[in-house]
Amino acid sequence: MLETDRTDGRILRSAEWFGSRDLEGFLHRAGLKNQGWSEESFSGRPVIGIANSWSEATHCNAHLRDLAEHVKRGVLTAGGFPLEFPTISLGEFFLSPTSMFCRNLMSMDVEEMIRGLPIDGVVLLSGCDKTTPAMLMGAASADIPTIIVTGGPQLKGNWKGEELGSCTDCRRYWAELRAGTITQSEYDSMEAAIYRSPGHCMVMGTASTMGAIVETLGMTLPGGAAIPGADSRRKVHAEESGRAVVGLVEKGIRPSDILTPEAFDNAIRMLLAAGGSTNAIIHLIAIAGRAGVELPLERFNDLSESTPVIVNLKPGGKYLMEDLYYAGGVEAVLKKMSGLLNLDCLTVTGDSLGDNIADAECHNDDVVLSVDAPLAKEGGLTILKGSLAPDGAVIKHIAASPELMKHTGHAVVFENPLDLKNRIDDPDLEVTKDDILVMKGAGPVGGPGMPEAGFLPLPKKLLAQGVRDMVRISDARMSGTAFGTVVLHVSPESMVGGPLALVQTGDMITLDVEGHRLDLNVDAAELDRRRADLIEPAVDGGFVRGYGKMYSQHITQAQDGCDFDFLIGRTPVVTHVEPAAHAAGFHTG
Ligand code: FES
Repeated sequence: MLETDRTDGRILRSAEWFGSRDLEGFLHRAGLKNQGWSEESFSGRPVIGIANSWSEATHCNAHLRDLAEHVKRGVLTAGGFPLEFPTISLGEFFLSPTSMFCRNLMSMDVEEMIRGLPIDGVVLLSGCDKTTPAMLMGAASADIPTIIVTGGPQLKGNWKGEELGSCTDCRRYWAELRAGTITQSEYDSMEAAIYRSPGHCMVMGTASTMGAIVETLGMTLPGGAAIPGADSRRKVHAEESGRAVVGLVEKGIRPSDILTPEAFDNAIRMLLAAGGSTNAIIHLIAIAGRAGVELPLERFNDLSESTPVIVNLKPGGKYLMEDLYYAGGVEAVLKKMSGLLNLDCLTVTGDSLGDNIADAECHNDDVVLSVDAPLAKEGGLTILKGSLAPDGAVIKHIAASPELMKHTGHAVVFENPLDLKNRIDDPDLEVTKDDILVMKGAGPVGGPGMPEAGFLPLPKKLLAQGVRDMVRISDARMSGTAFGTVVLHVSPESMVGGPLALVQTGDMITLDVEGHRLDLNVDAAELDRRRADLIEPAVDGGFVRGYGKMYSQHITQAQDGCDFDFLIGRTPVVTHVEPAAHAAGFHTG
């Protein structure tokens, strides 16, 4: 028997744990009383999970433990009961082989914790690149009322009076170091100057892009994406989110009510208008897949043609996230592009996107441009297809060199990232600025985990000649903070026998961004001969056990979001499943 009825006749999900006057209810209540909570604190109240990806090994999320206290304050003031729990955390800097390898693992962690715990709603605390999509993927599958609070961007870096963006400018100066135009000690002194405050990378990289996207999807309270991690208003935002999720539980609004095809179109428009990260394409497809929404790659090109780039942020533009916040944040961007959006989409405020941005203003028209005078007339990303990428590839042309947008050149091929590392600076490497650097072996299976290795470094000898960009092609991803004429996500990847596996040094390749083409100019008979010589890849990617083996067996290619095949699709509404042993009370250790 449950005794925790709501006034509207609905029974809280948490009541199935805390509401019964039997051994089960006794033990569940005792688990909170043991921590000093009275029954009055939690009984009959919406229990709000706070899924926290805080970790000292994820520097972008290191301040989330503090932020969780502010979410709790909001939950309590709204009459709810907060229950914080940790999730695994994926930091870009430390995690090997790559954070992307573990994105789906984190999503499974989040989904099963939401499903298994006595909570009625959840606040997701995320920040670094993969943590936001992983958490939203898990929450979309679990489908209880959810709000996302990111840790916000870092403050602008400052080095010798120059404003720097992480990590766009570390890459730019790395090229200068290799070219010999700055010293090692100068480069070293930049480390603390660029990463000087809590939060994620503050250019329009993957973390900032995903923050803007979740706000556009309606999964974050308005204004949440751009508040710097060090600004006290982020704490206020966290508190407001804690209050808001209690309201979401009362209204019964779930991610499945918010994550509609129209909302994903809005999110794609934001990605394009922001000149955002190529990684967001993969993450959006994966999130949509969990929500039961099909998002073909072609949709990105369809919407690109009518979506101008209006956010003037690095790496494609000039400013940083702190500037965007002062200019009015993501709300200002949405307001300026409102004619392109589905404004009726429901959001976590319980109101529509249009209602949320009705009073939004822009305070700096050079940071957020108008759709009539944009940075570029069409979106910042282009999906390519052709004989080298039958299932697609992507280029962030807003951050590329205009003169290379149509280019044919000889391939200079590297078999994998290690081969590249060993040979790229070899003085005997035969390469000119008109060649095309090609790297294999870095896709979802081959990486494994599709490392952000697609920003192939230019050969030192060409850097010394003043060359700063070349066409580069791989099946890898690239950090959203990087730039250059870089073709990524070539699919099928080389490790599963895509045409990329057949490319040899000296082959002619044509990139045509306007025509959306990427072609290998080698005749079919020759390619058939080369295919017969391909070496079979190791079974299960060489993994003999554990997560790696499961990963290798179930990972999908980039155009399918790199999700596991068994996780794609809507799941039934969550109910509290009582395994037989648990229901019988045999769970006390
Ligand atoms: Fe975390 Fe860049 S390293 S967002």
